[in-house]
Amino acid sequence: TSERTLSIIKPDAVAKNVIGEILARFERAGLRIVAAKMVHLGQQEAESFYAVHRERPFFNDLVGFMTSGPIMVQVLEGEQAIRKNREIMGETNPQEASAGSIRHDFAENIDANAVHGSDSPETAKQEIEFFFKADEICSR
Ligand code: CMP
Repeated sequence: TSERTLSIIKPDAVAKNVIGEILARFERAGLRIVAAKMVHLGQQEAESFYAVHRERPFFNDLVGFMTSGPIMVQVLEGEQAIRKNREIMGETNPQEASAGSIRHDFAENIDANAVHGSDSPETAKQEIEFFFKADEICSR
């Protein structure tokens, strides 16, 4: 059955001018973009979005990086969208990411790793609600 996931193109990939190439990979995999916007997160917003990582040693670097420039946020919809998006992204650490994955092809390191994707139906729902109102999502 069809599901939704939140996808973020992070500041490093936006700066590299590869938004279109990344979105094309989602579309080629059969995922539909049903909501999208560009935003530049403030400190508080980034801390709130990544609150689950607050106690991790990389938290401050993560928030600093995610507020360093604009990001592109989109809701992807389709069969197994959460798992499919994670396959297309590749491993969190680009050095472990499979050839042909987004992180292998576009990311530099585990902090500047090009994209984010929800990891479960529960986080997908929370993360989508963080960025989008219900009427900003155009299901199709
Ligand atoms: P993301 O999917 O956006 O979720 C949290 C981010 O923290 C992750 O991608 C990485 O970019 C970053 N990060 C930095 N160090 C680590 C680490 N050791 N484990 C997991 N994520 C890390």
